[in-house]
Amino acid sequence: MIVLKTGRELKIMKEACSISAGALEAAGKAVEPGVTTAEIDRLAEEYIRRRGGEPNFKNYEGYPATACISINNEVIHGIPSEKRKLRAGDIVSIDLGAKFDGYHGDNAATFACGDVSPEAKRLMDTTRESLYEGIRAACAGGRIGDIGHAVQSYVEARGYSVVRQFVGHGVGTHLHEAPEVPNYVIPHFGRGARLVPGMAIAIEPMINLGTRRIRVLDDGWTCVTADGKPSAHYENTIFISENGPEVLTNPE
Ligand code: MF3
Ligand code: CO
Repeated sequence: MIVLKTGRELKIMKEACSISAGALEAAGKAVEPGVTTAEIDRLAEEYIRRRGGEPNFKNYEGYPATACISINNEVIHGIPSEKRKLRAGDIVSIDLGAKFDGYHGDNAATFACGDVSPEAKRLMDTTRESLYEGIRAACAGGRIGDIGHAVQSYVEARGYSVVRQFVGHGVGTHLHEAPEVPNYVIPHFGRGARLVPGMAIAIEPMINLGTRRIRVLDDGWTCVTADGKPSAHYENTIFISENGPEVLTNPE
């Protein structure tokens, strides 16, 4: 069931999303050679709690940290660790969210650690742009499937591939709500649910340089590309208003 948000709920979601975005910004600023992913995770958690929120990934289905930090060939759900030091040239995907007053925010971005290869930079830029292509397609009157169509056509035209196993989602009193928001077109599925004012969704393309196939490591969480090539991930929580899509995950 897709739950539409009232004006009162939107106001709370804006704060949850602002906290999420501020924490992501703080985490991204900490990305530099020599820093451990556990240090970045602590910064993010401190930021969220300082603003009166709670890290909403922590304990979600047993997830042990505030942020997912996924490096290079890691696609999503990398677990922060004291043993994992960032190195110059890494691309670092950070995904995190905050719960505030009963509502969730969710966002992600990929950050460059020091100087990265032109190939990695182009993957990051294309993935970020594909998120905005998806957002521009998220207009009332359209359909959920328009978002995936926009993302997929943009990235495939540039030679990249779209991860299939994970998708965007509705956001509200739960981190993951209906509807699912795929970043690709599902053949024979149709265009999906209609987009109507009041919907809040997270759009989150995961884009690979090589094959779209991924696998999960033995830790049960970390997803890596099947061919070892890099991957990037960007995510915003957005609200479908009468006047078009509104990005909620802006740092204040
Ligand atoms: N990264 C997921 C999303 O953006 C949620 C994280 S699941 C967790 O929807 F278990 F890692 F928290
Ligand atoms: Co999400």
